[in-house]
Amino acid sequence: MATLQYLLLLVIATNVITICFASQVYIVYMGSKTSDNPDEILRQNHQMLTAVHKGSLEKAEESHVYSYSNGFRGFAAKLTEEQALAMTKMPGVVSVFPNLKRGLHTTHSWDFMGLSSDESMEIPGFSTKNQENVIIGFIDTGIWPESPSFSDNQMPPVPPRWKGRCQTGEALPAFSCNRKIIGARYYLSGYAAEEKATKIKSPRDTSGHGSHTASTAAGRYIKDMNFSGLAAGGARGGAPMARIAVYKTCWDSGCYDADILAAFDDAIKDGVDILSLSLGPESPQGDYFDDAISVGSFHAVSHNILVVSSVGNDGSRGSATNLAPWMLTVAASAMDREFISEISLGDGTNFTGESLSQFKMKQPARIVSAADVNGGYFTPYQSSYCIDSSLNATKARGKILVCRHAESSTDSKLAKSTVVQKAGAVGMVIIDEAEKDVAVQFVLPAATVGVKIGDRILSYINHTRRLRALISPAKTVLGSQPAPRVTGFSSRGPNALTPEILKPDITAPGLNILAAWSPANKKMNFNILSGTSMACPHVTGLVALIKAVYPSWSPSAIKSAVMTSATVLDRKGNPITADPGGRLASSFDLGAGFLNPTGVMNPGLVYDARPADYKSFLCSIGYDQKKLHLVTGDNSTCDHSINTASNLNYPSITVPNLKGSYSVTRTVTNVGNHRSIYRAIVSPPPGINVNVTPKVLIFNRYGQKMNFTVNFSASAASKGYVFGSLTWKNGISHVTSPLVVRVASHSSGML
Ligand SMILES: *[C@@H]1O[C@H](CO)[C@@H](O)[C@H](O)[C@H]1NC(C)=O
Ligand SMILES: *[C@@H]1O[C@H](CO)[C@@H](O)[C@H](O)[C@H]1NC(C)=O
Ligand SMILES: *[C@@H]1O[C@H](CO)[C@@H](O)[C@H](O)[C@H]1NC(C)=O
Ligand SMILES: *[C@@H]1O[C@H](CO)[C@@H](O)[C@H](O)[C@H]1NC(C)=O
Ligand SMILES: *[C@@H]1O[C@H](CO)[C@@H](O)[C@H](O)[C@H]1NC(C)=O
Ligand SMILES: *[C@@H]1O[C@H](CO)[C@@H](O)[C@H](O)[C@H]1NC(C)=O
Ligand SMILES: *[C@@H]1O[C@H](CO)[C@@H](O)[C@H](O)[C@H]1NC(C)=O
Repeated sequence: MATLQYLLLLVIATNVITICFASQVYIVYMGSKTSDNPDEILRQNHQMLTAVHKGSLEKAEESHVYSYSNGFRGFAAKLTEEQALAMTKMPGVVSVFPNLKRGLHTTHSWDFMGLSSDESMEIPGFSTKNQENVIIGFIDTGIWPESPSFSDNQMPPVPPRWKGRCQTGEALPAFSCNRKIIGARYYLSGYAAEEKATKIKSPRDTSGHGSHTASTAAGRYIKDMNFSGLAAGGARGGAPMARIAVYKTCWDSGCYDADILAAFDDAIKDGVDILSLSLGPESPQGDYFDDAISVGSFHAVSHNILVVSSVGNDGSRGSATNLAPWMLTVAASAMDREFISEISLGDGTNFTGESLSQFKMKQPARIVSAADVNGGYFTPYQSSYCIDSSLNATKARGKILVCRHAESSTDSKLAKSTVVQKAGAVGMVIIDEAEKDVAVQFVLPAATVGVKIGDRILSYINHTRRLRALISPAKTVLGSQPAPRVTGFSSRGPNALTPEILKPDITAPGLNILAAWSPANKKMNFNILSGTSMACPHVTGLVALIKAVYPSWSPSAIKSAVMTSATVLDRKGNPITADPGGRLASSFDLGAGFLNPTGVMNPGLVYDARPADYKSFLCSIGYDQKKLHLVTGDNSTCDHSINTASNLNYPSITVPNLKGSYSVTRTVTNVGNHRSIYRAIVSPPPGINVNVTPKVLIFNRYGQKMNFTVNFSASAASKGYVFGSLTWKNGISHVTSPLVVRVASHSSGML
């Protein structure tokens, strides 16, 4: 459990190239590929490396880790800091960046949770045809191929266009593909160079994360899936007939950029349609061309592959990651299912807490504050957080302890339950000060409560002598309200790199998700997890269904359909809230809104953007001609068709620095009926005048494009970001975009 926190520290540290324990492997990025001959590219790589190895070809070959030659050009190599610096000055080199480690976007790897199987998306009137033609690549921890979720029963032969491989690996039993898992590769060189760890070379998943995400997006139907009896029922992934291609880049302690880029490079060549990445940089993210995931996904999108990713689990404002406009970035929401344990106090009061713990207490036990059982050199304050060794076993034995858990805690709630158990206590109530509503598979009877309930329990303890309590085993509760709501851990906008592009793009279920697991980890076949890692594959699955029906749609058209059909209302028709405290969600929490499968197949209009538009976007944020050329490898020039990033044809509109008035241009493409008439309906952000021209769009044919402008001006004083929406409406489709505006403050730059 401490591994995750250790991981965070490491990632932050390796962000800075100049520190003494700089990474050993660097990625030399050289933009688009210029040759189709891998041998020739390898020879060129060695030549470049020879130059920094004082002419030694032998040393050059030794230092070479990967050659990227399919989707883009570059290589990874073991270099000293000076050699890396020298590389940046060589012709053709776009950027040189260290081999950063990425984290999987699961909240506290060990804090497991669960969600209803009914939410596996039964969509009335929804075409589920042609899924078997769609190939989804997962860049993750691998997969457990024997899981029934990945059975190829009744699946047709592998599409002939597939060019991928199946590495059987050295693990026993050997990995084998089938008509469901049609490709599997592993990437260990970048990890092994940094961690000096020996790993079993195989695409087999020994963690569980990769099996979980793949089965959420594309798992077959399992009729009796459950986690120790919780969340029992039938469950399947979003696109159960879609094909899975596995790119294992993540090992015990994380995923390294050199490996991730190699996976992108192969996936582009193999012919995947969609890439799903439930992982990402720690916030803040580096600039687009110093960031392996941005680079890899740019080239993937240029090859018509939609990249779906998670926004991160930091939870704080401005912490969103995977910020590139060519990615579809997913936030996490809670659904209407909870796993709760009853905490019954001896005075007849009952409270409910979140838990996945199935242990049954034989009889009520005395409940005390952990602060009152402190031991050793620890203060009562320290032991109130139940940190390791802070409890006196003589005092704690046989009792239920009330522990605190701070937002900044470096241990997990699961770890606290182990500390409490070691001290001989029989139960635990944990007060989560961050209200991160994540239920946990505790090692003893235990439940998580918020600060309000926690204070009431502590107050009872203060005022009642020898108060006793009983914690019941967790049970599944359906219909909890409000639902959906954004989880506390889901990372939020604004976009720290390019505020003109709203991130996240969309929110989807990411709390309490039951899906396949690796039996190599805790001997479980299914598990309940939470995180934006779990939200991402819900979108991936839905995107696969769209791709199946509209194989010719561009990645951005599919992304537009997902975003403009999202909902910002909960099941009762109220605005979606952003945390258990009831704060109303904004576009920074939700993106365009909660994933709404009913609208995605008939979006009516789409905001399309092509690789050329992303190039213009890069020019608009300051890439000059030369840098652009290096990146794209073609002759495209900065045409300045986009003067600011706000004008990228994106399905949301953000103006982060409004001075006087400002007009944004968008182009919509008709993908509905030939003849259709759309009217603009604006819900202006408070204090902002919004003028759409023209107000009516009349289309005569499928595929027709129309331009419109949205003119913003301040009508009243407003501070910080304000939010509204624009909807193009005809009789059938509602095409909604969030409007996000901040009026420039006079004390420029502040805020
Ligand atoms: C839970 O799963 C096990 C197999 O993993 C199955 O035997 C059992 O019937 C399931 N229970 C329910 C209630 O679905
Ligand atoms: C409190 O919970 C216990 C155990 O679940 C139950 O037996 C009791 O009826 C509950 N009391 C109230 C007042 O709901
Ligand atoms: C633990 O508490 C007991 C009983 O109060 C006391 O005798 C003992 O010294 C304490 N041990 C430590 C290590 O503080
Ligand atoms: C309980 O009592 C302690 C002192 O004995 C005090 O510090 C604490 O604030 C009280 N807590 C509540 C919730 O009343
Ligand atoms: C770029 O332009 C040059 C000269 O006009 C031409 O020779 C070359 O083939 C072009 N390259 C690409 C990739 O289009
Ligand atoms: C929309 O605007 C673009 C760029 O300004 C222009 O090239 C295009 O002709 C316009 N399309 C229509 C239908 O007006
Ligand atoms: C936008 O609207 C403002 C006032 O409503 C007007 O003065 C300005 O000319 C408009 N700008 C454009 C580009 O249409």
